[in-house]
Parts: sequence; structure tokens; C-alpha cells
Amino acid sequence: MATFQSLPGFRDFYPEDLARRSHLFRVWRQNARAFGFEEYDGPVLEPLELYKTKSGDEIETQLFSFTDKGGREVALRPEMTPTVCRLVGERAGSLKRPIKWFSIAEFYRYERAQKGRQRSFYQFNADIFGEAGPEAEIEIIALLVQCLAGFGLTAQDFYVRLSDRDLWFFYLESLGCTDAESRSLLSAVDRFEKMGDDAFKGYAEAHGELAPARKAAVLAFLEIKSLAALRAHLAEGGAGSGKLAARLADWEKVLGGLAAMGLGDFVQVDLGVVRGLAYYTGFVFEAFDRKGDLRALAGGGRYNDLVKKLGGPDLPAVGFAIGDVTTGILLEQRGVMPALISAPDVYVVSGEGEPRRTALGDVHRLRAAGYRVDYPLRAPAFGKQFKAASDSGARLALIYGSDELAKGVVKFRDLCERSEREIPLGGVAEAEKDFFCAGGR
Ligand code: HAM
Repeated sequence: MATFQSLPGFRDFYPEDLARRSHLFRVWRQNARAFGFEEYDGPVLEPLELYKTKSGDEIETQLFSFTDKGGREVALRPEMTPTVCRLVGERAGSLKRPIKWFSIAEFYRYERAQKGRQRSFYQFNADIFGEAGPEAEIEIIALLVQCLAGFGLTAQDFYVRLSDRDLWFFYLESLGCTDAESRSLLSAVDRFEKMGDDAFKGYAEAHGELAPARKAAVLAFLEIKSLAALRAHLAEGGAGSGKLAARLADWEKVLGGLAAMGLGDFVQVDLGVVRGLAYYTGFVFEAFDRKGDLRALAGGGRYNDLVKKLGGPDLPAVGFAIGDVTTGILLEQRGVMPALISAPDVYVVSGEGEPRRTALGDVHRLRAAGYRVDYPLRAPAFGKQFKAASDSGARLALIYGSDELAKGVVKFRDLCERSEREIPLGGVAEAEKDFFCAGGR
């Protein structure tokens, strides 16, 4: 056993693990670019103050924080949202709107490590700043769906649960709740899935027993799973005009836009999602696997006040983050994680001395031309080199023996078709190009 092991919740990435991680990053980056998002990054270490109260109680207790040698209270970033708000806030005047940005970065939370949860993990973050209307939700949720569907996952594999903190507040207001009561009821809703009726205990302690009619109304709201059911429920309650009606119109726009993009099957109305982070103000959503085996794949929502709270201008925002841990597990479970074999294009076999020197010249020329070329660092007997060539998975072997050199040729062996021919020395790059252009790669 090794003397030192990685810390709990921190992962080692052996080459095969890194290949899988890079696959996730590649798909996310490609889709973010297709949607017109620009990539940014920020510092790993931030002032502790950036997360205090802004991110919410839960994240605050999970911070990796310490005092640096200059006496500053600092924290490893647990999420990107406060950082990106600072970045955008500082240049808001000069950035073309809407501002569509994405990043892929590592985050740290002192959580209990379990399936789908680590203390260090990666997130793909995407956010739109400067658009207050539901058009931004359509764009951001479409990107979220595509960032999972881009791996070959379908609407049978995952879905986005869409909810709305504004709708909840307007609804609870229509039931006669004060702002304080609505807030405790929303925390109860956040816990309801896990705790059932016990979730309402906190409310009862703070505000007295929850009236049965009010509780029934909250539970009925939680049952709503479609736009038609939402429409009907609000109509029944007489919400034909005012805030609730205006909000329903926003819902129609968001779901209508997503349906027009052909993404209707990926999105489900589910008012059970209210999101734990403190800064969300309107629509909120989370992506889950359909089987319900895993923790959330992604989460996000609108946060119209955070840029301003962090000292920037009044700038509406909506965004989300997908985590690498649950996404990786889901891809494996559904069999859509590709076999990421890192085979060279060409394996070079050579004798010692002059053949080796000639071979090294070609190795470098081919690599500089963009081919993946491998060779044994110390040339063992030919038999071993041939075995290494076939084990490497390369499509092609180049053989530099003294007999070939004397004839002024190199052997060009197609390892898949098991065919062989000779090509003139100096003609390797050309032959290579012809071979791979003809579909050999
Ligand atoms: P979050 O819900 O805290 O949101 O995290 C988003 C995703 O990151 C989760 O759904 C999960 O997949 C992954 N994640 C979070 N914590 C861990 C962990 N300890 N281990 C593994 N994966 C984890 C946010 O972070 C918001 N800042 C997202 C956002 C961006 N909202 C607006 N813009």
C-alpha cells in the first residue's frame, strides 16, 4: 500500500480517467460554442467574504477556508456564480449584451464523500447576463439539455425539472401568507421530498401550526406536473389576472420556446424544486437521471440581484452548472461513455545504429506533421518490437532494418490488413499522407 493516499473526496486521474474527463469537457465546450457562449475563468482562491451569506448557509458550512500568510480570510471556490458576477459586474459597461459566458473548472466543498459527491469536482457553468425576459431561460435550458444530449443521452435517460420561486411566492401570497411565512414554507418544500411531513416542523416552530387548508394547497401545488395542470390549478384558484397570470404567461413562453426547439420531452414542470442556494430569484431547475438513482446532474436558475449585491450594476442573470461526477456515472450506466483508447497512428520498428538514426529522423518529421508516432525508447529484438507494435493498437508500422536501408527503402506494414510494401527512403511522409487520407486513420 502506498505511504500517502489522496485526501477523502479528492480524486487521482490516471490516463484512462483523464481521457473520460476530457471527453466530458470536449462535449461541453463544443456545445457551448455552438450556442455562442464565450469561455472565461477566474481564481481558485477567493476572499471568504464573497461566499458569506451570498451562496447560502449550506455552502458556507462546506467551505475550505483559511487565513493566508497576509492575514486574509480566503476560501477555495465552492462554485463559480459569485466569481462570474464579479467579473461581469466589473466590465458590464463595455460588454456586448446579452453576455453569454461559460467555464469548465474545479470546485471544492467539504461534503461527506458518497456516490456522486466528492470534495473536489468539476463543473461546466453557463450563464446569460443582461436579459430579464424568459427568452434567456429558453436559451439556457436548451444549452443544458444539449450538454447532456450531446453525449448520446436521450429524454429516456434524463430530464430537467422546472420550477419557479416567483410563482411560489405569488401563489403563497394569494393564500394569504406573509413574506416570512412564504420563506419558511419554501424551505419546507425544499426538504419535503426527503422528509415528508416532518419538513413542515420548522414552519410550525416559527409561525405556529400550518393551517390544514394552506397545507393542502401547498401539497396540491407540488402535485402539478404539466403546464396544463398548472393552468387549470391557477384558474381554479381564480388567478385570472395579476402577478400569477403574468407569471403563467412567462411559463407559456419558456415551455413554448423549448417545445419549438424540439426539447419538450426533456422538460417537466415540477414545483418541488426550489434550490438551496440563497441567490435565486425566479425560474429554477435541476437535471436528474430518469431512474432517479443519482443525485442531481445539474442545477441552476435566475439570480437577478447577485451582480448588484456584489457591488456591480443592476444586471439580470440566469445560468446553471453541470457536475462531472454524476454525469460520468450516468454515461457509464447508459453505456454511452466511448472506449477512449489512445493508440498511436504509427509505430516505428528499427534496428540499432544507422537504421535507428534514420528512423528517429522520420519519427520527428511525422510527429511535426501531426501524426501520433510511437517507438520503443530502447530498441529490443525485432520480434519484441513487432509485438509492441501490434499491442499499441497502431494502424501502421514502419520498419527500418539494415537490409531495407541497404536497398534504400522502408517497410510499410498495414497492421489491420496485414499487408506490407516497400517505399523509398525519404518518401515516408508522402506515403503516410496518402494512406491516412484514403481512410486509414
Ligand atoms: P449546485 O446545485 O450547487 O449549483 O451544483 C451544480 C451541480 O454541481 C450539481 O447538480 C452537481 O452535479 C455538482 N456538484 C455540486 N456539489 C458537488 C459535489 N460535492 N460533488 C460532486 N458534484 C457536485 C451551483 O453550484 C450553482 N452555482 C449553479 C449555477 C450557475 N447557478 C447559476 N449559475
